[in-house]
Amino acid sequence: MRKIEIFDTTLRDGEQSAGINLNTAEKLEIAKQLERFGASIIEAGFPASSPGDFEAVQRIAGTVKNSIVTGLARAIKKDIDITWDALKKAEQPHIHVFLATSPIHMQYKLNKTPDQVVEAAVEAVKYAKNTFPLVQWSAEDAFRSDREFLVRIINEVIKAGATTINIPDTVGYASPAEYGALFKFLRENVTGSDKVNFSAHCHDDLGMAVANSIAAIENGANQVEGTINGIGERAGNAALEEIAVAMHIRKDIYGIETGINLQEIKRTSQLVSKLTGVVIQPNKAIVGKNAFAHESGIHQDGMLKNPETYEIITPALIGESAVPLVLGKHSGRHAFKDRAETMGFDLSDDKINRAFAEFKKLADRKKEITEEDLLTLLTDQQIQHEEIPVYELKSVQVQYGTENIPTATVQVIQPDGEEVTVASTGSGSVEAIFNTLELLINSKVEILDYRVTSVGKGRDALGEAVVNLTYNDQKVTGRDAAQDVLEASAKAYLNTINRQIIQSSLRVKELIS
Ligand code: KIV
Ligand code: ZN
Repeated sequence: MRKIEIFDTTLRDGEQSAGINLNTAEKLEIAKQLERFGASIIEAGFPASSPGDFEAVQRIAGTVKNSIVTGLARAIKKDIDITWDALKKAEQPHIHVFLATSPIHMQYKLNKTPDQVVEAAVEAVKYAKNTFPLVQWSAEDAFRSDREFLVRIINEVIKAGATTINIPDTVGYASPAEYGALFKFLRENVTGSDKVNFSAHCHDDLGMAVANSIAAIENGANQVEGTINGIGERAGNAALEEIAVAMHIRKDIYGIETGINLQEIKRTSQLVSKLTGVVIQPNKAIVGKNAFAHESGIHQDGMLKNPETYEIITPALIGESAVPLVLGKHSGRHAFKDRAETMGFDLSDDKINRAFAEFKKLADRKKEITEEDLLTLLTDQQIQHEEIPVYELKSVQVQYGTENIPTATVQVIQPDGEEVTVASTGSGSVEAIFNTLELLINSKVEILDYRVTSVGKGRDALGEAVVNLTYNDQKVTGRDAAQDVLEASAKAYLNTINRQIIQSSLRVKELIS
């Protein structure tokens, strides 16, 4: 079977989505999971864009071994040097250099003539090739570029040493037939096109990103780029889990092997959703909550008689297990640690102890602990930043009655270690909590978005809250889970503030060192 390389850009193009801000610990967790998922290449960030991105790319490159790790760079020496510093210890250093090639981008954004663009692209690829064995060059807005110009510039960057040529549909404008035809044309007209990889990179503005990527595969692309859950700029990127499952289920027509470990899809999708705070729409193909739900009586009847009447994919294929965990309130620390290790967590003794304490509390209140609950508890511990003191919620109490003004009383340990109790009112319970916490942090906060979802099924499911707010003029997203949604909301609010505190403190440390 023909092999297609899967290039994951969840941590770069995905992270560029409005409202997403992952810290290094979270990016590292996602990268480790992407490695288990089987991505051939992980684009870990844009090292020259910020010290935070640099640190994340460097740490991911030092950790991930089974996937190639890459970083994005503009076609300028400074970016390439910084990217090399971040990636030089990677198993197979790979850089992704981009430069726009469409008339509108060259004229208005770059203010360069086509000749100057060719010169800059060639110079950048040659410079990158001095250090990087693997150089991917992207023609930004390739789909809206002049085809003859594309052939000219690609010929030149291949001569300069590019090993992969990426043809992005940056604005999500292409139709499958047109995008496929472009790949066919380039494969036929570029000199030495059989010596390099051709990559597809599609955005979903017209809802055609996955279809366009598949059309590219059918016409000569041997790499596809995308993100988990399709997150990304504007309407997002092609959803990799959809491409991988489509290739698997319809191998009869495509004959393609992706190397993706389908069993890791559910977990990867959940982790990305949890850490980015981007909720998956219920009817999303493959990973939506309802992707395998059969509501109508006729469908249910058919399913009972023969599941194949309405089911082309089973939940088991993507690693969604219906079997509850065998762990419960009588399980010991040893069994808990064992399970955490089987799930791929490598936590310090302190973190395991804290996660185990949380697990015991939950097991006392919840009938069945699911794999999803455990994933939530363990991920929360994994990404804790221990060295920087932050706010910690001790308790929250809300008085609510349909005829009363809701009042919240919150007990918090402040970053300086002092324990304080604050109370305030609001027009509802959640507003009362948020108003109280705003008094505590003594700063103007604007809530931009707030959502609560359940982790798994059942009336005793954990509630997970996501809060997106502005604090100190910065947009931040935070999240946390608890069995009670009000407690989850208070913890998510504080998590948002804490993330800002950690980020500022790391920035100060960087400036000092
Ligand atoms: O969409 C795009 O063109 C990109 C490039 C940087 C590859 O993300
Ligand atoms: Zn993109």
